[in-house]
Amino acid sequence: METKQILVIHGPNLNMLGTREPETYGTQSLADIDAALVQAAQANSTGLQTLQSNHEGQIVDAIQQARGAFDALIINPAGYTHTSVAIRDAIAMLEIPVIEIHLSNIYKREPFRHRSMITDVATGQICGFGHHGYLLALQAALRMIQA
Ligand code: DQA
Repeated sequence: METKQILVIHGPNLNMLGTREPETYGTQSLADIDAALVQAAQANSTGLQTLQSNHEGQIVDAIQQARGAFDALIINPAGYTHTSVAIRDAIAMLEIPVIEIHLSNIYKREPFRHRSMITDVATGQICGFGHHGYLLALQAALRMIQA
């Protein structure tokens, strides 16, 4: 059986995790989060690749290229969550499980963060659990692709 592959995409400003508003986003760096994800995927005999981009078009390209190459997508679209029809449309083309993740509980924050362009084209959403949410997202993805 071929090894299943999961893609994790981190949107804009998430490269600054650890020092970016730590009271909201925590003190873990993106490298810490990625390392924990790779390790947890490996422990489940699954491949995992991560990508961080501050550029909408690059994220769209990565989602398009995920077609046929990955078995699940975990995505924190960050600021683009609330604005990007292009990322939404790219996700809508995917036929694999897509998990939307946010470190913070976007529904407890400013009203403009309450609307996600992504949620209704994703399989599910996890938010409000800080960096641990990524591991929850991975668990959900593994459950779906190993079933
Ligand atoms: C975020 C929430 C977004 O509203 C914000 O723009 C981010 C991070 C989160 O992980 O909590 O950049 O996606």
